[in-house]
Amino acid sequence: MASNKSIFRTKSLEAMLAQTKGKGLKKVLGAFELTMLGIGAIIGTGIFVLTGVAAADYAGPALMLSFIFCGITCAFVALCYAELAAMIPVAGSAYTFGYVGLGEIWAWIIGWDLILEYVVAVAAVAVGWSGYIVSLLRAGGLNIPDAFCNAPGQKGGIINLPAVLVLFVITALLIKGVSESAKLNNILVVIKLAVVILFIVVGVGHVKPANWNPFFPFGVNGVFKGAAIIFFAYLGFDAVTTAAEEVKNPQRDLPIGIIASLAICTVLYIIVSGILTGMVPYAQFHGNAAPVAYALSSVGIGWGSALVSVGAVCGISSVLLVMTFGATRILFSLSRDGLLPQVFAEVHPKFGTPIKSTILVGIMTMVLSGFVQIGRLAEMTNIGTLAAFIVVSASVMVLRKKRPDVERPFSCPAVPVVPVIGIIFCLYLIYSLPNFTKLVFLIWLAIGFVIYFAYGKAHSTMNFEEQAK
Ligand code: ALA
Repeated sequence: MASNKSIFRTKSLEAMLAQTKGKGLKKVLGAFELTMLGIGAIIGTGIFVLTGVAAADYAGPALMLSFIFCGITCAFVALCYAELAAMIPVAGSAYTFGYVGLGEIWAWIIGWDLILEYVVAVAAVAVGWSGYIVSLLRAGGLNIPDAFCNAPGQKGGIINLPAVLVLFVITALLIKGVSESAKLNNILVVIKLAVVILFIVVGVGHVKPANWNPFFPFGVNGVFKGAAIIFFAYLGFDAVTTAAEEVKNPQRDLPIGIIASLAICTVLYIIVSGILTGMVPYAQFHGNAAPVAYALSSVGIGWGSALVSVGAVCGISSVLLVMTFGATRILFSLSRDGLLPQVFAEVHPKFGTPIKSTILVGIMTMVLSGFVQIGRLAEMTNIGTLAAFIVVSASVMVLRKKRPDVERPFSCPAVPVVPVIGIIFCLYLIYSLPNFTKLVFLIWLAIGFVIYFAYGKAHSTMNFEEQAK
């Protein structure tokens, strides 16, 4: 057992659950909303933007296999998430599970890492959203000057105003209330699902099997390189667990939300990637940021292409909403535990939302998307999430040993086989990522260590719990 002052001290499950009582977050979500939140966070830039590059430059038609590999990896991890989320329904997701399972330093590193990942992902996705909106407006005859739709240093840019504005609206909505946000999310998800299904129905008749030949133009290795990139398309099912404290019946609803949203998106992704590479020779997707719309227009379905653009904007908006939400809840949890200043754990008396952490996340994402060229930093999101997945899978095994007594409303099957396979697959995906990404990740971790030792360790609420003993 780690000593009281150890960086590996763990928070007891009971203490973790006790702190959610009292002036906590409002409980308004059910299994349906959670599944919609999951799909809201999952389907977005990954499928609407990244598939083209992944097919053209990494995997070719074998991109389908990349999606299957990522889907299997996420399924293993999702089963682990489901067990922990039902057992520890507390807002911080992987951070919280790590705190109970592995110890404070691991929890901090993952929490720190996840906030930055989510914030960078949101900023990058907002820039993508802005690109889609600006081109839709231009097509409609409304020209936004370059100065107001690019970051400084990019084509005469001063500020990426559409990105800042959409994030402002999302921040305001999240402050106002979770149930309002969930309602908007439901509408956005229905539209994007309709568009994806429309693409499948219309596109399947235009598949030419000759386009799948050669199937492995970049070799089998290309499948994993492609998988490391399109893994981004799967991010988001974990965000469901950040809502744990706002769920009416978390023991039952969290596992349903996590597994159902992942299963639905996995099936859609595999079908879409198969149809996409069957409609158009993969090499034509090189440098194409709107592959789904492109595939339709290249077979002469212009109306479908326009609809897909609208669906993409809705889809990407819901990703922004749920990922921003996730970042605020992780920040909230870290602050409540004292690892970051506790002002960010205040809950608004009327709205029942963590107002200060929402404002901070809003400001960070607005500044990043409005004024910084995010470029490759967006790739960072994958590595941080993969690291969180490893911590979650390991926590399942550790807690099965340390706390066999605790009731598990949902049990991950075949432990330790499922978590171990999940960990191995995640490690392989990390290994397949570009070196630049790994380097930036290490720098982020180093900054995290400095903050922990300079602030978090001394301010952790664990210090007071221990003195009180
Ligand atoms: N999975 C989300 C997307 O593809 C992050 O946009």
